[in-house]
Amino acid sequence: LEGLTGYLLFSLGTAVIGSLQFGYNTGVINAPEEKLRSFFNQTWLQRYNEPISAGVCTIVWSITVSIFSVGGMVGSFSVGIMANRFGRRRSMFLVNILAVIGGLLMGFSTICSSYEMVIAGRLVIGLFCGLFTGLTPMYVGEVSPTPLRGAFGTLHQLGVVVGILIAQIFGLEVLLGSDKLWPLLLALTVAPAVLQCILLPFCPESPRFLLINLKQEEQARKALVRLRGMEDVNKDLQEMKEESAKMAMEKKVTIVELFRSATYRQPLLIAVMLQLSQQLSGINAVFYYSTGIFSSAGVKQPIFATIGAGIVNTIFTVVSLFLVEKAGRRTLHLLGLGGMAVSALVMTVSLLLKHIPAMSYVAILAVMLFVAMFELGPGPIPWFIVAELFSQGPRPAAMAVAGCCNWTANFLVGMSFPKLVEWCGPWVFLIFTAFLIIFFIFTFIKVPETKGKTFDEIAREFGGAPPPATSSAEDPGATSSTAITLQASSPEK
Ligand code: GLC
Repeated sequence: LEGLTGYLLFSLGTAVIGSLQFGYNTGVINAPEEKLRSFFNQTWLQRYNEPISAGVCTIVWSITVSIFSVGGMVGSFSVGIMANRFGRRRSMFLVNILAVIGGLLMGFSTICSSYEMVIAGRLVIGLFCGLFTGLTPMYVGEVSPTPLRGAFGTLHQLGVVVGILIAQIFGLEVLLGSDKLWPLLLALTVAPAVLQCILLPFCPESPRFLLINLKQEEQARKALVRLRGMEDVNKDLQEMKEESAKMAMEKKVTIVELFRSATYRQPLLIAVMLQLSQQLSGINAVFYYSTGIFSSAGVKQPIFATIGAGIVNTIFTVVSLFLVEKAGRRTLHLLGLGGMAVSALVMTVSLLLKHIPAMSYVAILAVMLFVAMFELGPGPIPWFIVAELFSQGPRPAAMAVAGCCNWTANFLVGMSFPKLVEWCGPWVFLIFTAFLIIFFIFTFIKVPETKGKTFDEIAREFGGAPPPATSSAEDPGATSSTAITLQASSPEK
């Protein structure tokens, strides 16, 4: 494959450590819930000579879980400023300081008898992860050769899912999920941060940043020669220069300008809707609460079913990585959303009929299918497609807005799911089915294919003419039968 060099893979691998961190910290809090609750209680006893009330304990616990997403919202929103001021590589380096601070706060919380330190640590780690959900996809998109940009874009999500899986496994009672070791489980995030800081100085700065933002053509050429493993990088350079010339006036686009300019309206709408489709699909209802879902469906060993979901999650991200340059982004996203809607229906049926013993297996299968379909499209694609939909000037601002929407929706689902379960019982997944159908229709009508196109070509498509719309999807019947619409639309090449 042209453009695939060891040095490129090394640079991508280093950047993706940030994704791994995001996944790890997403998954790590699930297993040690009981240990943390009893730590809150002990601290309370020590301070006030009485046990913590159940209500207060739940509040402290919910804050510990969800303050991570609050940090994520703020962090993702700041990504544009950092990436433009310090560059992509140096930003990644600097952001790791947050992982060290956050990890140490959580790691020393028991020694200092302070649950506030766990909460503060989760907030700082959230900031850190929010920044990386912008920085990694941006860097990866900018250093990858066009024909492989989608496959490499999926590496971010692959890092995330491997991170979740590692957290699930390390969280087992026999490993780090024990009474004594859970602070270490939370602090472990420091190790990859240090590793990444050691490796980053050997990676190149993004050639696009060097050429378009800093006007350092020679530096950009050098970086490209090493990344592509060939002397003749004129084609890449030429393409960047064209982009650069065109955006001489919009070198740095602020978030306010992004909203004002009509040129960005379509791609921004698409970027935001795709991020929302990722989170409002309900995926994190599974990743945050799967153990509870499995036990209410009558599964005997819910922890292992959860790890099973983590494994399926990883396998299907790899499948998507190999499919995305052939099948295209749009098709995979549609397939994933449609498949998830069907799985959510099956899950609802299995929860409603749980008095039938075999239904616990159906529930497990439905969750696995839900997760698998998520990773085909809705998992990886929204993260990297934002970098594709915008040229160099507006890209950082767009990543910030899109990332912030993602984290906000993540927060809302995480916070509200337990309440929704109380209100809706076994019907709860139908809420996600409804969202999935809406986003399916939106994608069908609005989302263009970006496979194999240069950043410039994509930007040009949005310039004047609206993206290729397929108006047949406006048929209202499409809402009622996702599976059929799905088949009708998937042949898109
Ligand atoms: C995506 C989502 C994240 C989720 C993960 C599951 O990266 O952004 O919230 O937990 O996928 O694999």
